[in-house]
Amino acid sequence: MKTGVDHIIHGGDYNPDQWLKYPEIIDDDVRLMKKARINSATVGIFSWSVLEPEEGVYEFGWLDEVFDKLYENGIDVILATPSGARPAWMAQKYPEVLRVEESGIRNEFGVRHNHCPTSPVYREKVREIDRRLAERYGSHPALKMWHISNEYSGECHCELCQAAFREWLKERYHNDLEELNDSWWNGFWSHRITDWEQISSPKYRGEDHVTALKLCWDRFVTDSHISFYENEIAPIRELTPGIPITTNFMRFYDRIDYQKFSKKVDVVSWDNYPCYDGTDTLKKAAETAFSHDMFRSMKGGKPFLMMESTPSVVNHRPVNRIPAPGTQTLTAVQAIAHGSDSVQYFQWRKSRGGHEKLHGAVVDHSGRDDTRVFREVSATGELLEKLKDVAGARSRGRVAIVCDFENSRAVSHFCGYNNVRRDYLDECVKWYRPFWLSGVCADVIAMDDDFTQYDAVIAPFLYMLKNGTEERIEQYVRNGGVFVATYLFAVTDEDDLCRLGGLPAGKLKDVFGVIAEETDALPEGINEIAAFDGKEYKAEHVCDVIRSTGAAVLGEYGSGFYAGQPSVTVNSYGKGKAYYVAFRNDGELAVDFCRRLIKTHGIKKDAGIAAPDGVVFRKRGDFVFVMNFGDGDAAVTLDREYQNVSDRTTVRGDISVKANGFVCLKTL
Ligand code: GLA
Ligand code: ZN
Repeated sequence: MKTGVDHIIHGGDYNPDQWLKYPEIIDDDVRLMKKARINSATVGIFSWSVLEPEEGVYEFGWLDEVFDKLYENGIDVILATPSGARPAWMAQKYPEVLRVEESGIRNEFGVRHNHCPTSPVYREKVREIDRRLAERYGSHPALKMWHISNEYSGECHCELCQAAFREWLKERYHNDLEELNDSWWNGFWSHRITDWEQISSPKYRGEDHVTALKLCWDRFVTDSHISFYENEIAPIRELTPGIPITTNFMRFYDRIDYQKFSKKVDVVSWDNYPCYDGTDTLKKAAETAFSHDMFRSMKGGKPFLMMESTPSVVNHRPVNRIPAPGTQTLTAVQAIAHGSDSVQYFQWRKSRGGHEKLHGAVVDHSGRDDTRVFREVSATGELLEKLKDVAGARSRGRVAIVCDFENSRAVSHFCGYNNVRRDYLDECVKWYRPFWLSGVCADVIAMDDDFTQYDAVIAPFLYMLKNGTEERIEQYVRNGGVFVATYLFAVTDEDDLCRLGGLPAGKLKDVFGVIAEETDALPEGINEIAAFDGKEYKAEHVCDVIRSTGAAVLGEYGSGFYAGQPSVTVNSYGKGKAYYVAFRNDGELAVDFCRRLIKTHGIKKDAGIAAPDGVVFRKRGDFVFVMNFGDGDAAVTLDREYQNVSDRTTVRGDISVKANGFVCLKTL
């Protein structure tokens, strides 16, 4: 199985199927691609109505030509399966392929991503078109990868899906309704179920308050997409076992557990659309870095692909500002630095009509190659060729941030404490950011990933613990690990039942040496004071009221009725340390806390480069990438001699990195 490439993929979504009546445009595409140093095209993402214009009538001639033309010009093909959108004839003839909303009403034909993942008819149709694509192009030398469907998402509430959900529940609860009733605490509000048929998907006009049901539904939705995907890839695996498979994920779409789904693909890929509109650049760059590291971590540090990004603007925000010139290349460099083996765009050429006709593309409606965007993309292509040797290089974090998809869902469901501010993802980024700013490589992992390889594990707002997690945290710390937990830690179990016997749950009370007795929630704009290491910080949104049963107190609350009680603690347990940060901080504490953690526990940075705030660096293979997301040009002090990859000069000592710019260095 080939899972990698020996160069950086530079390409993107290419839709010649929309231009079949404009052959001169398709001809010009190849010339332009070569000029922009494009080496890959992702073809066929939404091509079903052209591939199968009538039921059972297939037209591959146009795609044959596209394949051949690209191949002759040295451009690889990533071939998509078209299941993300279906032809109108299919929806007309087989309405069951369309999705049913929570309201119970079936959608009409339209938009995309509008299919029922359970429908046997749709599954069969998808398998058939995928089989034909694999038969026809499986041995074409241009084919390098499969792009399955597009951004799987959403859910369907049709009767087929309801029945599948009930089967899923029967399996989870061993066909035992009593077990389900107990696990869901169905004695509450007289919700005991006496027949599996009484259960259906959570919905606003039905059962919307049983959090365990909602969590099960979330898990089922993930499994239904995975099972749909497995149905799709069956003929592809059979016919093209050597061609790697990916499907493009979205930034942090927690309705599908990507940490689970990723185990089913050969290469992880994701679509990256940061909103660089001149505000909060550093924050957005941190969020993007976090996402890259999360997708990289899903395959244990193996390279991933940045399957989509915009070469200029998007069209789907309320106001679509053009990112400052240079942003596209910096975005590309950041992706490579964090482990991507590709820089791919949505889209190669702007469509002439349809919903996305005003979305940015490498080639505008003008068709010209002397535009700013085209020039910038070409320059990126040139740089990526010089970075060829980084392809395939893996990187592993020294520390891990636990950002768990199932916990994210559990956190979004419960009712209590602060019902307004949950911000699970923001919390995780908040604790990731200090490491990113310090040049410490961080992985972003699920709670069931292995902790033992990390110098420290930080688990913000880890409210729900899956089976076995408690024991794994205990072992990790006992054997010398450093674990950081924050407020509302280990409150519920895998079925979202509250843990009995005091918090943190079970053995974790000993590991952390604290008892969390109450949790206070603060309205927006009202803060408490919390200290750490002799400095005062703002506590916002949620504060656990804790007491130490053995942990050393590193800071106390300075206001509220719990003034004088611990706000930050550390406990020695076995050979390790367990920290408890009892409150939500606004980001300032996280920075100081993590800096101290790096020092105290000797956590290694990627390099000894000294850079001002806003300039970050990341090592990958033999390369070190210095990126300036700050406000102005920055002076950076290098720790050794490097080669500047762009101009191949040798650099040492003090260098300047332009605002919105970067330097790619190679170790000599
Ligand atoms: C997504 C989709 C693309 C396109 C872009 C536009 O990522 O996968 O088909 O719609 O958004 O930004
Ligand atoms: Zn359905």
